[in-house]
Amino acid sequence: MREKLEAIKQEILEKVGAIATVAELHDLRVQALGKKGSLTMVLRDMGKLPAEERPVMGKLANTVRAAIESAITEREEQLAAREMEQKLAEEAIDVTLPGVRPKRGKLHPLTQTLNKIIDIFTGMGFSVVEGPEAETDYYNFTALNMPAHHPARDTQDTFYFTEDIVLRTATSPVQIRTMEKVKPPLKILAPGRVYRSDSVDATHSPIFHQVEGLVVDKGISMGDLKGVLDVFAKEFFGPKTQTKFRPHHFPFTEPSAEMDITCYVCGGKGCRVCSGTGWVEILGAGMVHPNVLKYGGVDPEEYSGFAFGVGLDRITNGLFSIEDIRLLFENDIRFLSQF
Ligand code: PHE
Repeated sequence: MREKLEAIKQEILEKVGAIATVAELHDLRVQALGKKGSLTMVLRDMGKLPAEERPVMGKLANTVRAAIESAITEREEQLAAREMEQKLAEEAIDVTLPGVRPKRGKLHPLTQTLNKIIDIFTGMGFSVVEGPEAETDYYNFTALNMPAHHPARDTQDTFYFTEDIVLRTATSPVQIRTMEKVKPPLKILAPGRVYRSDSVDATHSPIFHQVEGLVVDKGISMGDLKGVLDVFAKEFFGPKTQTKFRPHHFPFTEPSAEMDITCYVCGGKGCRVCSGTGWVEILGAGMVHPNVLKYGGVDPEEYSGFAFGVGLDRITNGLFSIEDIRLLFENDIRFLSQF
């Protein structure tokens, strides 16, 4: 029996040394020490030994078992450490590798221009409001002092949904909608898309953008209009910019004017952009017509106001030297990413 025990010890210890994975080691443990393991099998014959040999063999069996146990445990620790090391090496992240830079988007040039305008006017106490693009005939025309059959309606080249519903031809209907809701004093800016059935070319598009302004309070005068718009022009185009107001006609303002500024390209000397005049027209404006105040529910005996409408597309193109309005609507990334 002694030889058998020694042989088992020898054999198992050799196997332990050769094993490469923790899982195989578990199998080996069962093979040697399990219920049907080789050691257990040998010990079954213990009963056949003479009584005086049994304690000696028992002791030997225990040392064999202990030797096998400790060899397996030691090997198991070694293997587990090695497996962990391997796993760490495989899963290691090289934090020094350069990352994938995410593509950054940009604001559309129209949005950049609008944000700049909004900044300037909110700085003067204006708030921003919006109105619907599909508008009723009443808000788009009648309440803006263009009753049915008024000739000014023809100049607007209107898109009609029905006899009564149109795509708004200007942001001016927001003037009426605002006065209906808000009692004066009021100072609002109303940016948005507007539509006219123009044929498309480098300077015309059936869809374009305006920014409407409206101020209503007691004692508002043409001086307020000129002051506010002059501040706007200087903040937007630079402090050297000069403004000039030319008489004009709009049905919803009286008196009406167009504002020119010294050319943002040549500064007034005369160039291609200003057709050699040194001046560029940038907006329409005027004192709100008493009829329009009345349509908005405001008493023209008590209040007065001024309004203006800036063409956003035109000044965006001027500012960014874009020569064709169509580029603003095509949304070609190669074009847009330049701004
Ligand atoms: N609605 C005018 C236009 O579309 C602009 C404007 C707005 C003029 C407000 C005067 C007052 O041309």
